[in-house]
Amino acid sequence: MKIAVTGGTGFVGQAFLSEWSRQAPPSEVRIVSRYPPPRPLPSFARWFPGNVTDRTSLVPAMEGADAVLHLTGVLAETKTQSYEGIHVAGTQNVLDAARSAHVSRMVYLSAIGASPAARSRYHRTKAAAEEILKSSGLDVTIFRPSVVFGRGDKFLNLFAGMGKNLHLLPLIGNGRSRVHPVWVGDLVQAVLSSLPRPDTFGRTFQTGGSRIYTYRELMEVLKRSLRFSAVILPQPEAFLRLVAGLQEALLPVPFLTREMVTMAMEDNIAMPNDLVTEFKMSPYPVEAYLEAEFSSGQK
Ligand SMILES: NC(=O)c1ccc[n+]([C@@H]2O[C@H](COP(=O)([O-])OP(=O)(O)OC[C@H]3O[C@@H](n4cnc5c(N)ncnc54)[C@H](OP(=O)(O)O)[C@@H]3O)[C@@H](O)[C@H]2O)c1
Repeated sequence: MKIAVTGGTGFVGQAFLSEWSRQAPPSEVRIVSRYPPPRPLPSFARWFPGNVTDRTSLVPAMEGADAVLHLTGVLAETKTQSYEGIHVAGTQNVLDAARSAHVSRMVYLSAIGASPAARSRYHRTKAAAEEILKSSGLDVTIFRPSVVFGRGDKFLNLFAGMGKNLHLLPLIGNGRSRVHPVWVGDLVQAVLSSLPRPDTFGRTFQTGGSRIYTYRELMEVLKRSLRFSAVILPQPEAFLRLVAGLQEALLPVPFLTREMVTMAMEDNIAMPNDLVTEFKMSPYPVEAYLEAEFSSGQK
């Protein structure tokens, strides 16, 4: 099987490569991204430079492919990378390129909260991308993860670094909004098991982890698991919006944006959690990951 992976150099894409390196890989994996992979690719993978804003640049990676994993997405918009440009127009381009190469199978990574009525444009554009694919006539499966954690994530690792080095864990608002962190390895397993299954065509799966946490609870878990002392400091939404607005104006790639603040104020949970109900998996807990990653570095 030949698989093209848009966004294959990103955090989730790299986890697919790790998984394929451990078990029987496809005959060929085509990694599509604008910039070269951060580290040498395994022998079964090749890099195809491509930009989802340019349909023709995507075609070489699609030629002869049996399936496309469409992972490209953007969390913090920049001058050249808007949600509309990457999620909506980009998905249309990936679809058109796949069609022109006669690829019929596609898996898309959307996000929990995707809805045309969502408060954030991130979620509205994810919903628009889903709609494009659902009405495409291709054999499409959509996954909507909650926040994803694992080696190289920009979530738990970011907070762990802040807690350890700055002795500070900022809370967005009162910290009562809820998240359902899912381990990247579990997400990868679910996607790979769906790939050959016709019963997953045309379906959307919400994926969460072993339990739901408020942000405050998650910060407490980080402190306990990593055994550091840090102050958990609630940050008023208005203040964070100000900081985010400044970052958007001043930094080429902001760490925090007003869209991120909007999203962090809302629950982000998989109800039901299809990882458990549909894929019959026992999600890897955050606590076990933190112990393995930061104590022995095994997982
Ligand atoms: N991580 C999470 O917690 C999470 C949660 C819910 C949903 N998701 C979704 O899961 C998907 C993967 O997330 P991730 O965390 O792996 O993202 P990531 O680490 O930011 O990786 C993004 C990937 O997309 C590529 N990319 C960005 N702009 C591109 C463009 N214009 N043309 C071609 N490729 C482009 C990047 O490579 P280049 O920059 O080299 O082009 C990179 O390979 C995304 O769709 C995201 O919305 C993630």
